[in-house]
Amino acid sequence: MSDTQSLTDEIPAGGVFEPPAELAQHANVTAETYQRAADDRLAFWADAAQRLEWSKPWDEVLDWSNPPFAKWFVGGELNVAANCVDRHVAAGNGEKVAYHWVGEPGDTRTITYAQLKDEVSKAANALLSLGVQAGDRVAIYLPMIPEAVISMLACARIGAVHMVVFGGFSPDALASRIEDAGARVVITADGGYRRGAPSALKPAVDEALTKVGGVDHVLVVKRTEQDVDWTEGRDQWWHDLVDVQSTEHEAQPFDAEHPLYIMYTSGTTAKPKGILHTSGGYLTQVSFTHWGTFDLKADTDVFWCAADVAWVTGHSYIVYGPLSNGATSVMYEGTPETPHRGRWWEIVQQYGVTILYAAPTVVRTFMKWGAQELEPFDTSSLRVLGSVGEPINPEAWLWYRKNVGGGTATVVDTWWQTETGAHMIAPMPGVTATKPGSAQRAVPGISAAVVDEEGKPVEPGATGYLVLTEPWPSMLRTIWGSDERYVDTYWSRYGNQTYFAGDGAKLDEDGDIWLLGRVDDVMNVSGHRISTTEVESALVSHPAVAEAAVVGATDPTTGQGIVAFVILRGGAEDSGDDLVTELRQHVRKEIGPIASPRQIMVVAELPKTRSGKIMRRLLRDVAENRELGDVSTLTDSSVMDLIGAKMPSAS
Ligand code: PRX
Repeated sequence: MSDTQSLTDEIPAGGVFEPPAELAQHANVTAETYQRAADDRLAFWADAAQRLEWSKPWDEVLDWSNPPFAKWFVGGELNVAANCVDRHVAAGNGEKVAYHWVGEPGDTRTITYAQLKDEVSKAANALLSLGVQAGDRVAIYLPMIPEAVISMLACARIGAVHMVVFGGFSPDALASRIEDAGARVVITADGGYRRGAPSALKPAVDEALTKVGGVDHVLVVKRTEQDVDWTEGRDQWWHDLVDVQSTEHEAQPFDAEHPLYIMYTSGTTAKPKGILHTSGGYLTQVSFTHWGTFDLKADTDVFWCAADVAWVTGHSYIVYGPLSNGATSVMYEGTPETPHRGRWWEIVQQYGVTILYAAPTVVRTFMKWGAQELEPFDTSSLRVLGSVGEPINPEAWLWYRKNVGGGTATVVDTWWQTETGAHMIAPMPGVTATKPGSAQRAVPGISAAVVDEEGKPVEPGATGYLVLTEPWPSMLRTIWGSDERYVDTYWSRYGNQTYFAGDGAKLDEDGDIWLLGRVDDVMNVSGHRISTTEVESALVSHPAVAEAAVVGATDPTTGQGIVAFVILRGGAEDSGDDLVTELRQHVRKEIGPIASPRQIMVVAELPKTRSGKIMRRLLRDVAENRELGDVSTLTDSSVMDLIGAKMPSAS
């Protein structure tokens, strides 16, 4: 860790990094932008919506007459895909590169806006030929290949609602999402490349579809050439169906509130929530923030969001933000260490990437590997570095700036959620003097606060809960199929005008916001949201397990690691490592590899209050090797001695 020792020396007197003069001089967002947003928030968003091409202007910017159900740009009409593709071609930018795609094995594809328009039109015609209509749901279960973007845009183009599921989710998880969304079509691939080897996807779809009905068509992209089982009449190769379609497709406008996509995310219950995003407001805010937070200069920048397209970060900042802005992006299929630990920097050098957007967990992994991995490559093109998904510790922030950003790039830590759709709290690189570890200020046009239990704003220096006090254009509109759950989850704690984010936060003396992690039973592992309850219910569905409690324990690389405590059923045998392996395997099967516990402890009892509630706080103390907090409310405090004795001394 020698290259981290001098990191704190990097911090200038005053503790902040002023915006680079050159950047500030030509910045997209200036102090005047904040002023305009503060003077008239709705006029500001109406202005931002002019970034898009509307087929019919809106009558009203915001209808908030029935909170918390918002309508933005009421009466307006647009086609999201035409805004992302066609209008750039029509403006003479058809030859501009939309994506430099890099496959993990080293194959590449360069896709211009004109080519993207053709591909999206063909895919839209293919979906229409399968009988897909506006409002129908289409499940997408693909690796990081261009067809993922093309499929999403093809849906948007015909008004179908896409529901992308991360390729790392299990058949069971895929099935439950297909069922909840009521998808009629699934788009998948034979497989994708991961860590140097082909990894199959189609078998998961086949298995999922044995558990859920309603899917008439499966469209399969050929990527890895793996053998696949085939269901005649249901399965079709993408190249057979899509490649023969016409490149002509006239995009129809849809209402600003037409559903664009559903994305499932974990909450405090075992059942994932289908977050619903709509069209006009969503596209307005992702377009504005992609341009503002990253100071995007569409003519010269090369943008790389290194997330998976299946997460909201990928939806908003691989697909909709960059394309609505006519930007050139890099899209990479694989992992950072394949085939070597300098792969990212090789890609940055090759394409002259100027803006990189990544998760702190990756930055910490790079820190662990050491700065020497970057040395063979020229990364001096990088000028803005984004962070997303979890709190970034100051050391990682400083390391990122120094070693990836050459000591001059601006780091922007962006706080937001699947539910918020786009950046909500983030520095603006030409205005904000940045502070390592803080996401700092609400984006222009956004109103955030840190409040106490009663909902009163906390004093500077105090901690509390993060809330959003005004509706915003890219906000979720509901939870698919459950307006009630939408209200209960987000808008009941402080009344129906205040959005409860579920994150703890600190307000510092300067009014800057520091995110402190979730305050509910949601864990954050490598920037992925995983519910403790979801993992618990996966564990208790195993025949050997009677009861389970899961906590997120601090992990130096992944942010949090999943630690599970299980009580076995009478008669079940604790076979030690074999059982633990089996339980881990079971969780992978039920949810997917991302939910696999780092540790599983078989215990005789769990700490419970007299009212029967499991005291996770104490389990977290054990999992993090801390001295136990207050045990006075336990029915039997000796339980903790037994559990503590089971833990390995260092995790
Ligand atoms: O706890 C916050 C954390 O990630 C949660 C949202 O997760 P998800 O919906 O999967 O979206 C991730 C990508 C937007 C938040 O409730 N989080 C996200 N960004 C940050 C963060 N925590 C601290 N700092 C961030 N920049």
